[in-house]
Amino acid sequence: MKRREKLMQKPIPRHIAVIMDGNGRWAKRRGRERSYGHRMGALNIKTITLEAHRLGVEAFSIYAFSTENWKRPKEEIDFLMSLPTAFEEDFKETFETEQIRVRFSGRRDRISEKNREYMQEIEDKTKDREGLVLNICFDYGGRYEITQAARKIAEACMEGALKPEDIDESTVESRLYTTGLPPVDLLIRTSGEQRTSNFLPWQLAYAEFYFTKTHWPAFKERALHRALRSFQKRNRKFGGLKGA
Ligand code: IPE
Ligand code: IPE
Ligand code: MG
Repeated sequence: MKRREKLMQKPIPRHIAVIMDGNGRWAKRRGRERSYGHRMGALNIKTITLEAHRLGVEAFSIYAFSTENWKRPKEEIDFLMSLPTAFEEDFKETFETEQIRVRFSGRRDRISEKNREYMQEIEDKTKDREGLVLNICFDYGGRYEITQAARKIAEACMEGALKPEDIDESTVESRLYTTGLPPVDLLIRTSGEQRTSNFLPWQLAYAEFYFTKTHWPAFKERALHRALRSFQKRNRKFGGLKGA
């Protein structure tokens, strides 16, 4: 694809994060149930992950279920909870061929035993692969993630393994779910909302934000390319004076 090659002549984000919003609205507009939107949204993960991989992106984080999404009706939660295992059938083979690594970020104490086992299994199975890291944020909340890191640091101090004066950014970083992944360069949120909804607050510190009205199930390769073209026009300064 010519468009892809052209994009690859300029800097490509090392880490892209996506708030996959608008599944419900996309389905409603088609006179369908919200669950249909979630199903089509889950299928779209494969399309966009593979395109990000082809473009040379190293890490791709997706917001699949937030710590606040438990507020939704039970029926919808049950459906969303069934998606990780359904995911397996859709993506297994392609992800193996493309050497995609899968990891999950989020709480593991509130999900089913079945999902917990499945997550562990897929992480173990894919951890030595060399392709893009697909980081699926499931029962993920940024405030919870940072709070947990603080708790672990306090415990290490109590045990004498760590001194408060030695705590620096890497001490926190290494206790986040995303440890080892590069910082997020580009955040995309679909469906028009312009907020982060508790997604990766630490990791987004210097990310470029891209908002689009397109709903997640309709966000295809071309839409990703559009987001990348926007990213490539940004003047990233990281607090310095580059290009100013
Ligand atoms: C995003 O789509 C997926 C999840 C939050 C799980 P929504 O379900 O939020 O869709 P809208 O925002 O209601 O359209
Ligand atoms: C954020 O979307 C969570 C996910 C995409 C999983 P929401 O639809 O839950 O966010 P709000 O409620 O509009 O902020
Ligand atoms: Mg939403």
